[in-house]
Amino acid sequence: MKKLRLTLPLLIALAGAPAFGQTGNPSSNPPSMMREQAAREAYIDDLMRRMTVDEKIGQLRLVSLPAGAHPDRAKFAADIRAGKVGAIFNTVTPQDIRVLQDAAMQGRLKIPLFFAYDVIHGQRTIFPIGLGLASTWNMDAIRRTGRVSAIEASADGLDLTWSPMVDISRDPRWGRNSEGFGEDTTLTSRIGAELVKGYQGDDPAAPGSIMAVVKHFAAYGAVEGGRDYNTVDMSPQRLFQDYLPPYKAALDAGAAGVMIALNSLNGVPATGDKWLLQDVLRKQWGFKGITISDHGAIMEMIKHGVAADGRDAARLAISAGADMSMSDSMYGDNLKPLLESGRIAMADLDRATRDVLRVKYDLGLFRDPYRHLGPPANDPPDVNAESRLHRGAAREVARESLVLLKNQGGVLPLRKQGTIAVVGPLAKSQRDMMGNWSAAGRTEQTVSLYQGLVNAVGDRARLLYAKGANVVDDPEIVKYLNLYEEDVDVGPGTPAQLIDEAVAAARQADVVLAVVGESQGMAHEASSRTDIVIPESQVKLLHALKATGKPLVVVLMNGRPLALGWENDNADALLETWFAGTEGGNAVADVLFGDYNPSGKLPMTFPRSVGQIPIYYSHLNTGRPFDPLHPDKYTSRYFDAPNGPLFPFGYGLSYTTFALSDVDLSGPAMTRGGTVQASVTVTNTGDRDGATVVQLYIQDPVASVSRPVKELKHFQKVMLKAGESRKVAFTIDEDDLAFYNAQLHYGAEPGLFKVYVGLDSQDVKQASFTLK
Ligand code: BGC
Repeated sequence: MKKLRLTLPLLIALAGAPAFGQTGNPSSNPPSMMREQAAREAYIDDLMRRMTVDEKIGQLRLVSLPAGAHPDRAKFAADIRAGKVGAIFNTVTPQDIRVLQDAAMQGRLKIPLFFAYDVIHGQRTIFPIGLGLASTWNMDAIRRTGRVSAIEASADGLDLTWSPMVDISRDPRWGRNSEGFGEDTTLTSRIGAELVKGYQGDDPAAPGSIMAVVKHFAAYGAVEGGRDYNTVDMSPQRLFQDYLPPYKAALDAGAAGVMIALNSLNGVPATGDKWLLQDVLRKQWGFKGITISDHGAIMEMIKHGVAADGRDAARLAISAGADMSMSDSMYGDNLKPLLESGRIAMADLDRATRDVLRVKYDLGLFRDPYRHLGPPANDPPDVNAESRLHRGAAREVARESLVLLKNQGGVLPLRKQGTIAVVGPLAKSQRDMMGNWSAAGRTEQTVSLYQGLVNAVGDRARLLYAKGANVVDDPEIVKYLNLYEEDVDVGPGTPAQLIDEAVAAARQADVVLAVVGESQGMAHEASSRTDIVIPESQVKLLHALKATGKPLVVVLMNGRPLALGWENDNADALLETWFAGTEGGNAVADVLFGDYNPSGKLPMTFPRSVGQIPIYYSHLNTGRPFDPLHPDKYTSRYFDAPNGPLFPFGYGLSYTTFALSDVDLSGPAMTRGGTVQASVTVTNTGDRDGATVVQLYIQDPVASVSRPVKELKHFQKVMLKAGESRKVAFTIDEDDLAFYNAQLHYGAEPGLFKVYVGLDSQDVKQASFTLK
């Protein structure tokens, strides 16, 4: 104790600002950072020397302690005092956090706890779900959501978030698409990096900052059949080319931690995959932060069939490089006997412990364990107070996340007059509007779509409401969805009665808004679907509404691409709103009434049917590509449906129109290490101001391995006044042309490259150049 007191201030003074951003070449670190790192290591050396084996093992234990009266709370406090707990997640108020940190400060070595939470798309103010954020294609807006989340989370006493989730997914059946940023490597990498910068700022220990833990490493989004937790089997080329770069981008942006995926990858559960956790992550990428197993994942290696029992699983995980064990007792129960029997080395335990202590140091917790909390007098009397929200930011981001998929005859924007029938089981839902993983967001503080419309029209228009249908009628599905949280509300009235009420409302109206799709729980962890249509109960409602002959605007709330063939053929307008967050209702109303001109673009292909999955824009050409202009039998196609998607990646309409010029290249060739500039002029040819996203794709048509028909490399969102033109230029460099070849060597091969520029991935202008 005495030594600690004497040593601490000295080392901390030496430490100055904490060191983080642990990837990259250490020799490129400036001298001041090297000094900071040396001070940190000295501090940790000193602490480690005084820790018992049990205390080290305790640091690796990550415990979920939800708010409220937990039956084991007293036991947890005793465990914390005894140095048996390293960190807590799911405790989210300053008051609750303080009590636990107090217990840590009563421990022998006073090693502070850190507190983490799934702050995925907001803490108290909830922003759109991941797919919605990605639909903005606006990196400033996305970074802002990270910043606001960090400000709110740190004000609650939190230190870390289990975010960003950058799992690429090309299978809409997977429920966790909702949390990620879609199918594309470049877009997801950019978003992940922006979120990390937003969460951490320049220094994760600064007031208002939290640390980012990127997840789920690796390739969790490629689970077979879109079935959650299923197997992933993938070529190394695809893994390195498409699936790993987003994790790396988040680490390069400074993410301090990595959460390990639950799935196995090519037969090896990620939690025990030494190649993944050491060779790739630490050696190739130079990562020096913390790795955290996902919920119960160490124990699950028994069921994966690679560990005989808990002891074996703990041995595998610690030797592979999984630092902390989340929500299982595998490390607590087994590491000591494993050490004593020589089945694991002290070096493994020490390495993992050091990683945990380093995070605590970098968070500034050794300097001040209450760094976010301050004195008890600072605790907010009401954690849910309205004044703690950032509604302005939420509304601005939410309206940018909406994607206009169809607008026939200019039915949108609506006028704030006449009678509008608002129909559908999601129209008045506040809970669904927040989406899944809604952290500390409050249902009652969320603006439903209906409320947003009321706020927008005041007494200028008459709104009629009818529920029209349940989200789903199938009792088995309702039971499943309501298992742990009330998700689907099946109220009174038979399906026929509900539809009759809705039709009666529609008949009195000038226009019908049908708010349909999925409940938030249908697009979540453990929410995989074998079909991706709107549930039957709601489809029947849509048919009945269509039969009234009234203009039909379908407003979609959902967390995955849906197959919308009938809806696209029959609705006058389709607006994809995902789950838009706390201010969702106001944001959707902004778009429906034209107070904001929609600018969202799809981050994921919308198939025509589930049978087309996997479907993604960056596919290979095959030896027998299907040519719609010259259809032939023995080509790669389906005979019962078109090949292409219903809505392509990058697609989204506006209330104005845009035109693109041809692509102008700065030269016909790129030299090694050089660049080529590609520019286009984009013109707003309509009569409303609006924003669009100019997207640049590249193809290498002849290479040593087949390369995709196109890959997104650059994009820029541009706001243009009605009639305005702007030149948009992109710099293409050698890295944009590079790929992993059959021997897994990364580089660009000489020859011709095609450049495509468009406002979606399908409708593009083309140019080409050669790499010498
Ligand atoms: C999820 C993670 C999440 C963790 C903690 C797990 O079930 O897979 O994404 O961070 O729970 O809540």
